[in-house]
Amino acid sequence: MIFVTGGAGFIGANFMLDWLAQSSEPVLNLDKLTYAGNLQNLASLQGDARHVFVRGDIGDATLVAELLAKHRPRALVNFAAESHVDRSIHAPEDFIQTNIVGTFRLLESARLYWASLQGKDRDNFRFLHVSTDEVYGSLTPTAPAFTELHRYEPNSPYSASKAASDHLVRSYHHTYGLPVLTTNCSNNYGPYHFPEKLIPLMIVNALAGKPLPVYGDGQQVRDWLFVKDHCSAIRCVLQSGRLGEVYNVGGNSEKANLDVVHTVCTLLDELRPRSDGQSYRTQISFVKDRPGHDRRYAIDARKLSQELGWSPAQTFESGMRQTVRWYLDNPEWVQQVQSGAYRDWVQKQYA
Ligand code: NAD
Ligand code: TYD
Repeated sequence: MIFVTGGAGFIGANFMLDWLAQSSEPVLNLDKLTYAGNLQNLASLQGDARHVFVRGDIGDATLVAELLAKHRPRALVNFAAESHVDRSIHAPEDFIQTNIVGTFRLLESARLYWASLQGKDRDNFRFLHVSTDEVYGSLTPTAPAFTELHRYEPNSPYSASKAASDHLVRSYHHTYGLPVLTTNCSNNYGPYHFPEKLIPLMIVNALAGKPLPVYGDGQQVRDWLFVKDHCSAIRCVLQSGRLGEVYNVGGNSEKANLDVVHTVCTLLDELRPRSDGQSYRTQISFVKDRPGHDRRYAIDARKLSQELGWSPAQTFESGMRQTVRWYLDNPEWVQQVQSGAYRDWVQKQYA
């Protein structure tokens, strides 16, 4: 089996669902179920013996050692993290604990387990660490996109904590020979995305008749990657990536935030027009900028495509249409994630 951490979060859940749709190999899923973890994301796996769920922390070395000894996975894929930049600005502590200390403890547990393996089991073991393009810092409008050789220049507590985790992963390969792989991807979007992030927030606010809060001038640029394309890239790197290597993953879709919000509005105008006939664009509201806001991210994913033959299947247009449709088709999921804790966050961030 494979061992996934953070499999109840946005990307982890999509990865679990795709994996089990394509493979008979079981998955052990360790997730702490923070505000971002949601077992509803995995409701379709209920009763499926191939999904073994354990609630727990990647930093709990005793628990992780027990799970490794019991289930003897051939690979560990680490999605577990605190992932929202704005939350890292309000309260960085959890980011340091999970993203740095947690990853360190997970690496230690994996190293001890790997050292106990022999022969083929030892040769075939992999530790795949899922990271972000934000570790590379911010680009000017005309600078070339990030390659894997770009220096690390993280600018938020979130990206700094992910950068630290990437360095630890690298060092475990260099020092101990642990067979690691690292992926650094751009902004994901798609089903099960928690509505604190740009795209799902805009969809749920638009439908609720609330303002669409665009930070600053809305001209910050991100590369957008459909989550299922990210999942296929991870499967590809897990299967064929060279040990110790880093692979950037991108969607070939650089967009300014305001253009992303316009796309959401245009799709909603078509698929669920407002009753007063006006466009959802009228709800756009420019608000105070995020402190230290990175201006532009862009990914050069040629290494992954040239070495391993991966490329994204979705364009921004096709991925966004699927995403908006998914939110329209799943109002119960949206309602369920908008708990009291979610409302407290929205109040704190956008008051
Ligand atoms: P998410 O916040 O939606 O989910 C994170 C999951 O990890 C949740 O289920 C949460 O309960 C779990 N978790 C948190 N702390 C834990 C701990 N200490 N032990 C065990 N589980 C814990 O995040 P996501 O968007 O799915 O991101 C997954 C990974 O991909 C993260 O490592 C993130 O840094 C990276 N990433 C995300 C994006 C993006 O656009 N969402 C882009 C680049 C990289
Ligand atoms: P986000 O989804 O938080 O991802 P990240 O910060 O990891 O890139 O934000 C994407 C972009 O959208 C980022 O430039 C910040 C901006 N943004 C807004 O303009 N308004 C919002 O309410 C949010 C959440 C983000």
